[in-house]
Amino acid sequence: MQLLALNGSLRARSSNGAVLRSALALTDATSAVADLGALPHFNPDLDTEDAAPPAPVAALRRAVAEADAVLVVSPEYAHGVPGVLKNALDWLVGSAEFLDKPTAVLTASPSPAGGEYAHAQLRETLRMMSADVIADACRNLTAIAPKTDPATGTVTDPATLRDLRTALAALLTAAATRT
Ligand SMILES: Cc1cc2nc3c(=O)[nH]c(=O)nc-3n(C[C@H](O)[C@H](O)[C@H](O)COP(=O)(O)O)c2cc1C
Repeated sequence: MQLLALNGSLRARSSNGAVLRSALALTDATSAVADLGALPHFNPDLDTEDAAPPAPVAALRRAVAEADAVLVVSPEYAHGVPGVLKNALDWLVGSAEFLDKPTAVLTASPSPAGGEYAHAQLRETLRMMSADVIADACRNLTAIAPKTDPATGTVTDPATLRDLRTALAALLTAAATRT
């Protein structure tokens, strides 16, 4: 089973990064994290049938195509999806790698709502892209930073880890039914 993770935060000490690392460590799946910071700004002029897409775009499309499931982890910026993540999704709209792909959305924010606006927007965008968003695998997570070990950049809170394990199991069970 191959799991690809996309993180909407480029911050080295990202709490969403901690969630992502902890979630991936809880599974037996082979995992990779996409490098969204390497992508150029989406421009349809760079995405025509006559020319190969920029190399980081081709790499992202290949990684999504090869993944059995995708884990999208993100903060919320100004009640929206961070530009870096929306940019990545825009590159994937026309190329269909997300079609029927089992996908989970985890948003982590210090606010009590856990990034609810970005969460809803991500699920709607992925639904529009025909991803198979697995509701049981999605979570709004709150106050992750105080539940994280800064030395390892991983979540230490047992209840959060239990919840992440349940979410990942739902995602991988959905993916297993496809293979
Ligand atoms: C420009 C900016 C805008 C933000 N807007 C929101 C917001 O609308 N809602 C929210 O819950 N948190 C917001 N935050 C706080 C982030 O959730 C918080 O910084 C979080 O730790 C970022 O995720 P990360 O730790 O994974 O980088 C914002 C932070 C920044 C820097």
